Amino acid sequence: MNINNNANIVWHNTSISRDDREQLLNQKGILLWFTGFSGSGKSTVANALSVKLHNDSYLTYLLDGDNLRHGLNAGLGFSKEDRIENIRRVKEVSKLFVDAGIITLATFVSPFREDRDSIRELLGDRFIEVFVDCDLEVCEDRDPKGLYKKARTGLIKDFTGIDSPYEKPNNPEITIYTHKASIDQCVEQIVAYLKERRYLITS
Ligand code: ADX
Repeated sequence: MNINNNANIVWHNTSISRDDREQLLNQKGILLWFTGFSGSGKSTVANALSVKLHNDSYLTYLLDGDNLRHGLNAGLGFSKEDRIENIRRVKEVSKLFVDAGIITLATFVSPFREDRDSIRELLGDRFIEVFVDCDLEVCEDRDPKGLYKKARTGLIKDFTGIDSPYEKPNNPEITIYTHKASIDQCVEQIVAYLKERRYLITS
């Protein structure tokens, strides 16, 4: 990947800061990063959370792995290299959304710890890793898109959990158990965390 580090490109400072935008929006820009197996419930919980926050007058935006692969990340596959590039792009986009002051929710399998940790490094305490902990057997049983079936019969290669690895987070800020708790309970758990840590400021 040819990344442009051209010395002739100089950073241009802008007058309106993240602080200004956050004051306007009356909220804090954060990134809630949902990681877990396909079918674990990342998108479902993130979507329900964004509805709840939106109804409470927060500006949110959901960056969904499957959806972004139709545009920004179209053309990337599921080799290790492509997944790393997939997450690198989303990391940069997420940084912009957080800088915009938006409560950003990202749902990506993101199987590699190093990639997720590099986002934490970039965003510090504005990065909140949500591990969607759901046994592979349960995900495979749900198989909402019929992909596990295809992976088992060899129609899809490099499928996470089948013939491609998933590295669980060591220290996620939040762990939700979608096979034990309801969607509403998972949403409540995340909201409680955000309130407790004063991420959801209201003036
Ligand atoms: S990631 O590993 O690069 O983070 P991403 O979240 O963008 O993956 O995309 C995962 C989604 O693509 C899954 O929800 C699933 O629907 C679909 N998918 C298709 N092929 C694969 C595969 N080989 N491994 C995992 N997910 C796949």
